Amino acid sequence: MIELKSAKAVEKMREAGRLAAATLEMIQPHVQPGVSTERLNQLCHDFLIEHKAIPAPLNYRGFPKSICTSINEVVCHGIPSEAQILAEGDIINVDVTAILDGYHGDTSCMFCVGEVSKPARDLVEATKQALYAGIRVCAVGARIGDIGHAIQSLVEPMGYSVVRDFTGHGIGRRFHEDPQILHYGKKGVGPRMREGMTFTIEPMINLGTWRVEVMEDNWTAVTLDRKLSAQFEHTILITAEGYEILTPSSLF
Ligand code: MF3
Ligand code: CO
Ligand code: CO
Repeated sequence: MIELKSAKAVEKMREAGRLAAATLEMIQPHVQPGVSTERLNQLCHDFLIEHKAIPAPLNYRGFPKSICTSINEVVCHGIPSEAQILAEGDIINVDVTAILDGYHGDTSCMFCVGEVSKPARDLVEATKQALYAGIRVCAVGARIGDIGHAIQSLVEPMGYSVVRDFTGHGIGRRFHEDPQILHYGKKGVGPRMREGMTFTIEPMINLGTWRVEVMEDNWTAVTLDRKLSAQFEHTILITAEGYEILTPSSLF
């Protein structure tokens, strides 16, 4: 069942979304060689608490930290750690989900640590374009499957692959709710979009195979071939005019 949000709920989703986006803006200058992912976690945690929000990942199904930090071949759900130090040339996704007044805002983006190789920069740029290709098809009456079709048909001709094992999701009072948003697939399939729907689009795009495996910690998902992966995420509202990005930031 896909819940349609009231005007009041939408206003709260906007606030939560803006705060999640502001957290990414806050962390940007700290993403530097020599910094640990645990330091990024602490800064984001404290920023959210100071703004009267709760970091949704903390203790979510046993997740031990307040953000996800996914470096290089890590596809998603990387766990921040004191022992994990950013190095020149790394690409990292920081994924922030804020709960503010009971509503969730979920957004993530890639950061390049110092100078990054051309293949890595190109992958990051293509993944950002994939997110916006998915967003642009959103409108009342369009089908949820149109999103994945737009993403897949953009990146596969470029030689990249689309991760299958993780999806976007409806979002609201719950972190993950209906509908499930595939980042690949056919046009014209799935539920019709309606005014008041809120969901994330968060394509994970790989340099090599789309296949992934989850590490021993039961969270960290990595590419099977250990080649690079990138991801961007926005929370979207379907409006009478088309869509609204609920997690707007100056970063992407
Ligand atoms: N923020 C992630 C998403 O985009 C989910 C993280 S779940 C966690 O859906 F438990 F790892 F935090
Ligand atoms: Co999400
Ligand atoms: Co997220």
